Amino acid sequence: MNSRIDLLQPYPFERLRVLLAGTNPPATLRHVPLSIGEPRHTPPAFIAEALVDGLRTLGNYPVTLGLPALRAAIARWLERRFGLPAEAVRAEDMVLPVNGTREALFSFVQAAVDSEARSEGSKARGRRPLVLMPNPFYQIYEGATLLAGAEPRFLNCTAAQGYLPDLDGVDAATWDRCEVLFLCTPGNPTGAVMPIDYLRRALELAARHDFVIASDECYSELYFDETAPPPGLLQAAWAAGNTAFERCVVFHSLSKRSSVPGLRSGFVAGDARFLARYRLYRTYHGCAVPEHTQLASIPAWQDEMHVVENRRLYREKFRRVTPILAEAWQQAVPIPAGGFYLWLPVGDDESFTRGLFERQHVTVLPGSYLGRDAGAVNPGRGRVRVSLVAQLDDCVAAAERTAAFVTAAGRR
Ligand SMILES: Cc1ncc(COP(=O)(O)O)c(C=O)c1O
Repeated sequence: MNSRIDLLQPYPFERLRVLLAGTNPPATLRHVPLSIGEPRHTPPAFIAEALVDGLRTLGNYPVTLGLPALRAAIARWLERRFGLPAEAVRAEDMVLPVNGTREALFSFVQAAVDSEARSEGSKARGRRPLVLMPNPFYQIYEGATLLAGAEPRFLNCTAAQGYLPDLDGVDAATWDRCEVLFLCTPGNPTGAVMPIDYLRRALELAARHDFVIASDECYSELYFDETAPPPGLLQAAWAAGNTAFERCVVFHSLSKRSSVPGLRSGFVAGDARFLARYRLYRTYHGCAVPEHTQLASIPAWQDEMHVVENRRLYREKFRRVTPILAEAWQQAVPIPAGGFYLWLPVGDDESFTRGLFERQHVTVLPGSYLGRDAGAVNPGRGRVRVSLVAQLDDCVAAAERTAAFVTAAGRR
Protein backbone atom coordinates (compact mmCIF):
# COMPACT_ATOMS: atom_id res chain seq x y z
CA MET A 1 0.00 0.00 0.00
CA ASN A 2 0.97 3.62 -0.53
CA SER A 3 3.06 4.53 2.52
CA ARG A 4 1.85 8.13 2.30
CA ILE A 5 -1.49 6.92 3.66
CA ASP A 6 0.27 6.53 7.01
CA LEU A 7 0.83 10.29 7.04
CA LEU A 8 -2.92 11.03 7.18
CA GLN A 9 -4.34 12.29 10.47
CA PRO A 10 -7.54 10.87 11.96
CA TYR A 11 -10.43 12.94 10.61
CA PRO A 12 -11.84 15.45 13.18
CA PHE A 13 -15.18 13.63 13.44
CA GLU A 14 -13.40 10.39 14.29
CA ARG A 15 -11.51 12.24 17.05
CA LEU A 16 -14.80 13.72 18.22
CA ARG A 17 -16.38 10.27 18.38
CA VAL A 18 -13.51 9.07 20.59
CA LEU A 19 -13.77 12.21 22.77
CA LEU A 20 -17.48 11.68 23.40
CA ALA A 21 -17.30 7.91 23.89
CA GLY A 22 -18.49 6.79 27.32
CA THR A 23 -20.47 9.96 28.08
CA ASN A 24 -24.11 9.81 29.15
CA PRO A 25 -25.98 12.84 27.88
CA PRO A 26 -29.43 13.47 29.38
CA ALA A 27 -31.98 11.47 27.38
CA THR A 28 -34.64 14.05 28.27
CA LEU A 29 -32.90 16.65 26.13
CA ARG A 30 -33.16 16.20 22.39
CA HIS A 31 -29.76 15.93 20.74
CA VAL A 32 -28.72 18.99 18.70
CA PRO A 33 -25.72 18.21 16.47
CA LEU A 34 -23.86 21.43 15.58
CA SER A 35 -20.55 19.78 14.83
CA ILE A 36 -20.82 18.92 11.14
CA GLY A 37 -21.05 21.55 8.42
CA GLU A 38 -23.90 19.78 6.66
CA PRO A 39 -26.64 22.16 5.47
CA ARG A 40 -30.05 21.08 6.82
CA HIS A 41 -32.39 23.53 5.10
CA THR A 42 -34.96 21.96 2.83
CA PRO A 43 -33.50 21.53 -0.67
CA PRO A 44 -35.40 23.52 -3.32
CA ALA A 45 -38.10 21.43 -5.01
CA PHE A 46 -37.15 22.61 -8.50
CA ILE A 47 -33.68 21.06 -8.12
CA ALA A 48 -35.17 17.71 -7.06
CA GLU A 49 -37.62 17.86 -9.97
CA ALA A 50 -34.83 18.55 -12.48
CA LEU A 51 -32.88 15.67 -10.98
CA VAL A 52 -35.77 13.25 -11.42
CA ASP A 53 -36.35 14.51 -14.93
CA GLY A 54 -32.65 14.03 -15.65
CA LEU A 55 -32.81 10.35 -14.82
CA ARG A 56 -33.73 9.74 -18.44
CA THR A 57 -29.99 10.09 -19.13
CA LEU A 58 -29.07 7.06 -17.00
CA GLY A 59 -28.19 5.21 -20.19
CA ASN A 60 -25.33 7.64 -20.99
CA TYR A 61 -21.76 7.68 -19.78
CA PRO A 62 -21.07 11.27 -18.71
CA VAL A 63 -18.00 13.00 -20.13
CA THR A 64 -15.38 14.69 -17.95
CA LEU A 65 -15.76 18.06 -19.63
CA GLY A 66 -19.45 18.19 -18.72
CA LEU A 67 -22.51 19.32 -20.62
CA PRO A 68 -22.08 22.55 -22.63
CA ALA A 69 -25.33 23.88 -21.14
CA LEU A 70 -24.06 23.45 -17.59
CA ARG A 71 -20.68 24.99 -18.35
CA ALA A 72 -22.42 27.95 -19.98
CA ALA A 73 -24.77 28.36 -16.98
CA ILE A 74 -21.77 28.37 -14.65
CA ALA A 75 -19.76 30.83 -16.78
CA ARG A 76 -22.71 33.25 -16.87
CA TRP A 77 -23.23 32.84 -13.11
CA LEU A 78 -19.59 33.68 -12.43
CA GLU A 79 -19.87 36.80 -14.59
CA ARG A 80 -23.07 37.98 -12.90
CA ARG A 81 -21.92 37.18 -9.39
CA PHE A 82 -18.43 38.66 -9.63
CA GLY A 83 -19.19 41.64 -11.88
CA LEU A 84 -17.20 40.33 -14.84
CA PRO A 85 -18.00 41.42 -18.40
CA ALA A 86 -20.05 39.08 -20.61
CA GLU A 87 -17.97 36.24 -22.05
CA ALA A 88 -15.08 36.98 -19.66
CA VAL A 89 -15.31 33.35 -18.55
CA ARG A 90 -14.95 30.98 -21.50
CA ALA A 91 -17.33 28.09 -20.86
CA GLU A 92 -15.42 25.78 -23.19
CA ASP A 93 -12.05 25.76 -21.43
CA MET A 94 -12.30 27.78 -18.19
CA VAL A 95 -15.02 25.74 -16.42
CA LEU A 96 -15.12 22.10 -15.32
CA PRO A 97 -18.03 20.54 -13.38
CA VAL A 98 -17.00 18.40 -10.39
CA ASN A 99 -18.71 16.11 -7.88
CA GLY A 100 -18.67 18.73 -5.12
CA THR A 101 -15.62 20.72 -4.11
CA ARG A 102 -14.27 18.13 -1.71
CA GLU A 103 -13.19 15.69 -4.39
CA ALA A 104 -12.02 18.56 -6.59
CA LEU A 105 -9.86 20.15 -3.89
CA PHE A 106 -8.31 16.75 -3.35
CA SER A 107 -7.79 15.76 -6.95
CA PHE A 108 -6.59 19.17 -8.08
CA VAL A 109 -3.60 18.93 -5.75
CA GLN A 110 -2.75 15.48 -7.14
CA ALA A 111 -2.67 17.00 -10.61
CA ALA A 112 -0.97 20.29 -9.69
CA VAL A 113 1.92 19.15 -7.49
CA ASP A 114 5.07 17.96 -9.21
CA SER A 115 6.46 15.63 -6.57
CA GLU A 116 9.12 14.34 -8.97
CA ALA A 117 10.65 17.79 -9.25
CA ARG A 118 13.52 17.16 -6.93
CA SER A 119 16.34 18.08 -9.28
CA GLU A 120 18.48 21.17 -8.91
CA GLY A 121 16.87 23.82 -11.10
CA SER A 122 13.34 22.57 -10.45
CA LYS A 123 11.02 24.88 -8.57
CA ALA A 124 11.41 23.02 -5.29
CA ARG A 125 15.19 22.92 -5.78
CA GLY A 126 15.69 19.31 -4.85
CA ARG A 127 13.35 19.50 -1.86
CA ARG A 128 9.76 18.46 -1.36
CA PRO A 129 7.36 20.97 -2.88
CA LEU A 130 5.23 22.95 -0.48
CA VAL A 131 1.49 23.50 -0.34
CA LEU A 132 0.55 26.47 1.83
CA MET A 133 -2.80 26.59 3.57
CA PRO A 134 -4.68 28.47 6.29
CA ASN A 135 -4.59 27.07 9.81
CA PRO A 136 -7.20 26.01 11.06
CA PHE A 137 -8.42 24.62 7.75
CA TYR A 138 -10.70 22.27 5.85
CA GLN A 139 -8.97 18.94 6.39
CA ILE A 140 -8.91 17.87 2.76
CA TYR A 141 -6.17 20.43 2.01
CA GLU A 142 -3.72 18.61 4.23
CA GLY A 143 -4.65 15.06 3.18
CA ALA A 144 -4.46 16.01 -0.49
CA THR A 145 -1.02 17.56 0.06
CA LEU A 146 0.41 14.57 1.88
CA LEU A 147 -0.91 12.06 -0.63
CA ALA A 148 0.49 14.17 -3.48
CA GLY A 149 3.97 13.88 -1.93
CA ALA A 150 4.18 17.55 -0.95
CA GLU A 151 4.71 19.14 2.43
CA PRO A 152 1.95 21.19 4.08
CA ARG A 153 2.88 24.61 5.47
CA PHE A 154 0.33 26.10 7.82
CA LEU A 155 -0.40 29.82 7.92
CA ASN A 156 -1.98 30.66 11.23
CA CYS A 157 -5.24 32.58 11.19
CA THR A 158 -5.61 34.40 14.47
CA ALA A 159 -8.01 37.02 15.73
CA ALA A 160 -5.18 39.56 15.72
CA GLN A 161 -4.93 39.18 11.92
CA GLY A 162 -8.65 39.19 11.31
CA TYR A 163 -8.42 35.40 10.85
CA LEU A 164 -6.60 35.77 7.54
CA PRO A 165 -3.23 34.14 6.80
CA ASP A 166 -0.37 36.64 7.00
CA LEU A 167 0.90 36.38 3.43
CA ASP A 168 3.61 38.98 3.94
CA GLY A 169 4.97 37.05 6.91
CA VAL A 170 6.02 34.20 4.58
CA ASP A 171 9.65 34.38 3.42
CA ALA A 172 10.68 34.35 -0.24
CA ALA A 173 12.40 30.95 0.01
CA THR A 174 9.13 29.39 1.20
CA TRP A 175 7.17 31.00 -1.61
CA ASP A 176 9.78 29.74 -4.08
CA ARG A 177 9.08 26.17 -2.99
CA CYS A 178 5.31 26.67 -2.95
CA GLU A 179 3.38 24.99 -5.75
CA VAL A 180 -0.16 25.54 -4.49
CA LEU A 181 -1.56 28.15 -2.10
CA PHE A 182 -4.95 27.28 -0.63
CA LEU A 183 -7.22 30.16 0.28
CA CYS A 184 -10.66 29.75 1.79
CA THR A 185 -13.05 32.70 1.63
CA PRO A 186 -15.36 32.95 3.50
CA GLY A 187 -13.24 30.80 5.76
CA ASN A 188 -14.14 27.58 7.47
CA PRO A 189 -14.21 27.74 10.49
CA THR A 190 -13.79 31.48 11.12
CA GLY A 191 -16.14 32.98 8.53
CA ALA A 192 -13.55 35.63 7.66
CA VAL A 193 -13.84 37.11 4.17
CA MET A 194 -10.75 38.07 2.16
CA PRO A 195 -10.99 41.64 0.82
CA ILE A 196 -10.21 42.14 -2.86
CA ASP A 197 -6.87 43.81 -2.08
CA TYR A 198 -5.85 40.78 -0.07
CA LEU A 199 -6.65 38.52 -3.02
CA ARG A 200 -4.69 40.83 -5.32
CA ARG A 201 -1.69 40.59 -3.01
CA ALA A 202 -1.92 36.79 -3.18
CA LEU A 203 -1.98 37.04 -6.97
CA GLU A 204 1.13 39.26 -7.01
CA LEU A 205 2.97 36.69 -4.91
CA ALA A 206 1.76 33.86 -7.18
CA ALA A 207 3.10 35.68 -10.25
CA ARG A 208 6.41 36.53 -8.61
CA HIS A 209 7.04 33.05 -7.20
CA ASP A 210 5.19 31.00 -9.82
CA PHE A 211 2.55 29.02 -7.95
CA VAL A 212 -1.17 28.42 -8.44
CA ILE A 213 -3.83 29.69 -6.04
CA ALA A 214 -6.60 27.21 -5.21
CA SER A 215 -9.35 29.44 -3.86
CA ASP A 216 -12.01 27.48 -2.00
CA GLU A 217 -15.10 29.70 -2.33
CA CYS A 218 -17.73 27.11 -1.45
CA TYR A 219 -19.21 29.46 1.21
CA SER A 220 -19.21 32.50 -1.07
CA GLU A 221 -23.02 32.62 -1.28
CA LEU A 222 -23.60 32.55 2.48
CA TYR A 223 -22.93 36.05 3.75
CA PHE A 224 -24.52 38.33 6.26
CA ASP A 225 -24.74 41.67 4.47
CA GLU A 226 -26.96 41.33 1.40
CA THR A 227 -25.33 44.45 -0.09
CA ALA A 228 -21.75 43.20 0.25
CA PRO A 229 -21.19 39.74 -1.25
CA PRO A 230 -17.68 38.40 -0.65
CA PRO A 231 -15.27 39.08 -3.50
CA GLY A 232 -13.73 36.14 -5.35
CA LEU A 233 -10.32 35.39 -6.81
CA LEU A 234 -11.43 35.66 -10.46
CA GLN A 235 -12.86 39.09 -9.68
CA ALA A 236 -9.56 40.16 -8.10
CA ALA A 237 -7.60 38.82 -11.08
CA TRP A 238 -9.82 40.65 -13.57
CA ALA A 239 -9.52 43.89 -11.62
CA ALA A 240 -5.74 43.52 -11.75
CA GLY A 241 -5.78 43.10 -15.53
CA ASN A 242 -5.18 39.34 -15.34
CA THR A 243 -7.99 38.56 -17.77
CA ALA A 244 -6.75 35.03 -18.52
CA PHE A 245 -7.07 34.29 -14.77
CA GLU A 246 -3.46 33.10 -14.76
CA ARG A 247 -2.59 31.02 -11.71
CA CYS A 248 -6.19 31.21 -10.46
CA VAL A 249 -8.34 28.16 -9.84
CA VAL A 250 -11.59 28.68 -7.90
CA PHE A 251 -13.81 26.04 -6.35
CA HIS A 252 -17.58 26.55 -6.01
CA SER A 253 -20.34 24.28 -4.83
CA LEU A 254 -24.11 23.94 -4.73
CA SER A 255 -23.89 22.15 -1.37
CA LYS A 256 -24.05 25.28 0.81
CA ARG A 257 -25.52 27.73 -1.70
CA SER A 258 -28.56 25.56 -2.46
CA SER A 259 -28.56 23.24 0.60
CA VAL A 260 -28.01 20.16 -1.55
CA PRO A 261 -24.89 18.49 -0.11
CA GLY A 262 -26.20 15.12 -1.31
CA LEU A 263 -26.32 16.23 -4.94
CA ARG A 264 -22.50 16.35 -5.08
CA SER A 265 -22.27 19.19 -7.52
CA GLY A 266 -19.77 21.98 -7.89
CA PHE A 267 -17.29 23.36 -10.37
CA VAL A 268 -13.71 24.43 -10.83
CA ALA A 269 -12.96 27.51 -12.93
CA GLY A 270 -10.05 29.69 -13.92
CA ASP A 271 -6.72 29.37 -15.71
CA ALA A 272 -7.34 27.34 -18.89
CA ARG A 273 -3.78 25.95 -18.87
CA PHE A 274 -4.28 24.33 -15.48
CA LEU A 275 -7.79 23.21 -16.31
CA ALA A 276 -6.66 21.43 -19.48
CA ARG A 277 -4.11 19.37 -17.53
CA TYR A 278 -6.52 18.81 -14.68
CA ARG A 279 -9.19 17.64 -17.10
CA LEU A 280 -6.78 15.06 -18.52
CA TYR A 281 -6.07 13.87 -14.97
CA ARG A 282 -9.80 13.60 -14.24
CA THR A 283 -10.41 11.61 -17.41
CA TYR A 284 -8.15 8.88 -16.05
CA HIS A 285 -9.39 9.30 -12.49
CA GLY A 286 -12.89 8.59 -13.82
CA CYS A 287 -14.88 11.18 -11.93
CA ALA A 288 -17.16 12.72 -14.57
CA VAL A 289 -20.29 14.22 -13.02
CA PRO A 290 -23.40 12.08 -13.78
CA GLU A 291 -25.64 13.73 -16.36
CA HIS A 292 -28.72 13.84 -14.15
CA THR A 293 -26.67 15.71 -11.53
CA GLN A 294 -25.52 18.14 -14.19
CA LEU A 295 -29.07 18.65 -15.45
CA ALA A 296 -30.27 19.40 -11.92
CA SER A 297 -27.38 21.83 -11.45
CA ILE A 298 -28.24 24.05 -14.42
CA PRO A 299 -31.41 25.61 -12.90
CA ALA A 300 -29.66 25.78 -9.50
CA TRP A 301 -26.94 28.10 -10.89
CA GLN A 302 -29.54 30.08 -12.83
CA ASP A 303 -31.78 30.92 -9.87
CA GLU A 304 -30.89 33.37 -7.08
CA MET A 305 -34.24 33.58 -5.28
CA HIS A 306 -33.69 30.37 -3.35
CA VAL A 307 -30.21 31.51 -2.33
CA VAL A 308 -31.53 34.83 -1.01
CA GLU A 309 -34.01 32.86 1.08
CA ASN A 310 -31.27 30.51 2.26
CA ARG A 311 -29.19 33.48 3.46
CA ARG A 312 -32.21 34.90 5.22
CA LEU A 313 -32.59 31.70 7.22
CA TYR A 314 -28.94 31.74 8.32
CA ARG A 315 -29.08 35.45 9.11
CA GLU A 316 -32.08 34.87 11.32
CA LYS A 317 -30.25 32.14 13.22
CA PHE A 318 -27.18 34.31 13.81
CA ARG A 319 -29.42 37.18 14.95
CA ARG A 320 -31.24 35.00 17.45
CA VAL A 321 -28.32 32.93 18.71
CA THR A 322 -25.54 35.47 19.20
CA PRO A 323 -27.26 37.65 21.87
CA ILE A 324 -28.01 34.52 23.93
CA LEU A 325 -24.37 33.48 23.82
CA ALA A 326 -23.08 37.02 24.37
CA GLU A 327 -24.94 37.21 27.66
CA ALA A 328 -23.36 34.00 28.93
CA TRP A 329 -19.92 34.90 27.60
CA GLN A 330 -20.28 38.46 28.93
CA GLN A 331 -18.73 39.74 25.75
CA ALA A 332 -19.86 40.39 22.20
CA VAL A 333 -20.21 37.30 20.03
CA PRO A 334 -19.63 38.75 16.57
CA ILE A 335 -21.61 37.51 13.58
CA PRO A 336 -19.10 36.30 10.97
CA ALA A 337 -19.01 37.99 7.56
CA GLY A 338 -19.71 34.70 5.82
CA GLY A 339 -20.39 30.97 6.22
CA PHE A 340 -22.59 29.36 8.86
CA TYR A 341 -20.16 28.83 11.74
CA LEU A 342 -19.54 30.48 15.07
CA TRP A 343 -15.95 30.26 16.28
CA LEU A 344 -16.28 30.60 20.03
CA PRO A 345 -13.55 31.06 22.62
CA VAL A 346 -14.04 28.44 25.35
CA GLY A 347 -10.80 27.74 27.22
CA ASP A 348 -10.05 24.03 27.00
CA ASP A 349 -11.89 23.12 23.80
CA GLU A 350 -11.92 19.36 24.36
CA SER A 351 -13.24 19.50 27.90
CA PHE A 352 -15.81 22.14 26.86
CA THR A 353 -17.05 19.93 24.01
CA ARG A 354 -17.28 16.86 26.21
CA GLY A 355 -18.96 18.74 29.05
CA LEU A 356 -21.49 20.42 26.78
CA PHE A 357 -22.44 17.08 25.26
CA GLU A 358 -22.62 15.33 28.61
CA ARG A 359 -24.73 18.01 30.35
CA GLN A 360 -26.74 19.51 27.51
CA HIS A 361 -26.72 17.00 24.64
CA VAL A 362 -25.34 19.54 22.19
CA THR A 363 -22.43 18.55 19.94
CA VAL A 364 -19.85 21.07 18.76
CA LEU A 365 -16.37 20.51 17.35
CA PRO A 366 -13.13 21.27 19.23
CA GLY A 367 -11.21 23.89 17.27
CA SER A 368 -7.90 22.16 17.90
CA TYR A 369 -9.09 19.27 15.70
CA LEU A 370 -9.25 21.64 12.75
CA GLY A 371 -5.78 23.12 13.28
CA ARG A 372 -2.19 21.94 13.55
CA ASP A 373 0.70 23.12 15.67
CA ALA A 374 2.57 25.75 13.69
CA GLY A 375 5.08 28.07 15.29
CA ALA A 376 4.41 26.13 18.54
CA VAL A 377 0.73 27.04 18.60
CA ASN A 378 -2.41 25.43 17.29
CA PRO A 379 -4.58 28.46 16.50
CA GLY A 380 -7.70 26.31 16.79
CA ARG A 381 -6.99 25.43 20.40
CA GLY A 382 -9.26 27.12 22.90
CA ARG A 383 -12.16 27.48 20.48
CA VAL A 384 -15.07 25.41 19.28
CA ARG A 385 -16.77 25.47 15.91
CA VAL A 386 -20.54 25.69 16.08
CA SER A 387 -22.38 24.98 12.80
CA LEU A 388 -25.72 26.77 12.70
CA VAL A 389 -27.15 24.16 10.39
CA ALA A 390 -30.06 22.87 12.49
CA GLN A 391 -33.51 24.44 12.22
CA LEU A 392 -33.94 27.85 13.89
CA ASP A 393 -35.72 26.48 16.99
CA ASP A 394 -33.05 23.85 17.54
CA CYS A 395 -30.27 26.43 17.12
CA VAL A 396 -31.94 28.72 19.66
CA ALA A 397 -32.50 25.81 22.08
CA ALA A 398 -28.86 24.75 21.66
CA ALA A 399 -27.69 28.33 22.30
CA GLU A 400 -29.80 28.50 25.48
CA ARG A 401 -28.42 25.21 26.70
CA THR A 402 -24.87 26.26 25.85
CA ALA A 403 -25.41 29.51 27.74
CA ALA A 404 -26.76 27.56 30.73
CA PHE A 405 -23.73 25.26 30.61
CA VAL A 406 -21.31 28.18 30.49
CA THR A 407 -23.07 30.06 33.27
CA ALA A 408 -23.31 26.98 35.50
CA ALA A 409 -19.68 26.11 35.03
CA GLY A 410 -18.61 29.73 35.45
CA ARG A 411 -16.43 29.10 32.42
CA ARG A 412 -15.70 31.11 29.33
C1 LIG B 1 -14.17 24.84 3.35
C2 LIG B 1 -14.88 23.74 2.67
N1 LIG B 1 -14.53 23.42 1.42
C3 LIG B 1 -15.15 22.44 0.76
C4 LIG B 1 -16.16 21.69 1.34
C5 LIG B 1 -16.77 20.57 0.55
O1 LIG B 1 -18.06 20.82 0.16
P1 LIG B 1 -18.73 20.05 -1.07
O2 LIG B 1 -17.83 18.88 -1.42
O3 LIG B 1 -20.04 19.60 -0.58
O4 LIG B 1 -18.78 21.03 -2.19
C6 LIG B 1 -16.56 21.98 2.64
C7 LIG B 1 -17.64 21.19 3.28
O5 LIG B 1 -17.93 21.28 4.42
C8 LIG B 1 -15.91 23.03 3.32
O6 LIG B 1 -16.24 23.36 4.57
